[in-house]
Amino acid sequence: MPLIHECVVTTLTPEGKPHIAPLGLIEQDGFWIIAPFRPSATLFNLMSGRQITASFTDDVRIFARLVAGYRSFPLTDIASWPAPRLSGALAHAELEVVKFEDDEQRPRFFCQIIRAVAHRPFLGMNRARAAVLEAAILSTRLDRLPREKIENEIAYLKIAIDKTAGDAEREAWNMVMAKIDAHVAQTVDDATNNGPS
Ligand SMILES: Cc1cc2nc3c(=O)[nH]c(=O)nc-3n(C[C@H](O)[C@H](O)[C@H](O)COP(=O)(O)O)c2cc1C
Repeated sequence: MPLIHECVVTTLTPEGKPHIAPLGLIEQDGFWIIAPFRPSATLFNLMSGRQITASFTDDVRIFARLVAGYRSFPLTDIASWPAPRLSGALAHAELEVVKFEDDEQRPRFFCQIIRAVAHRPFLGMNRARAAVLEAAILSTRLDRLPREKIENEIAYLKIAIDKTAGDAEREAWNMVMAKIDAHVAQTVDDATNNGPS
């Protein structure tokens, strides 16, 4: 399996408005590949715009807020590049789509890095941040996962939160848990309302 870089991707709407979404960029054979599931706003934008920006951050509250549905983040314009970056990014990469492979479920946009720029120091890995990222990804797949798998994964990931999180990581974790809890409660509600009377 190739390496996947989890980041925040800025695409542009056909009108030129920035749109951001958390995505994993697959590094393979010299390309960075974006593979958005259908349907998604990112996919729609990629059909018309070839120049995108990947923002790299270690602030997992950004991923938590994005999966919770918030999309308003401070953005910074980039000289000579149309798609802005997250203002808080540690680094960003300017990526150009050079090849497209269609697929019924998950089309692939092959990109090349035009320029990568560092803005702030990266101060090391952290298990709680990785756990929040896992939980954030899980929270985008709740409809496709059995409840038991969700609960088991959360129980395992929480160990890293309890042992290694700072305030920011705990805040992010709580945001993702609120989303997951709401989904589980809704599923129980639906089962109760649709069950035998
Ligand atoms: C860290 C992270 C990585 C993700 N990677 C992908 C991905 O590679 N492809 C994808 O379709 N969705 C991915 N998702 C889920 C998308 O963010 C989600 O589908 C989102 O709704 C797409 O947003 P959009 O409709 O605004 O483009 C990821 C989510 C997270 C939190």
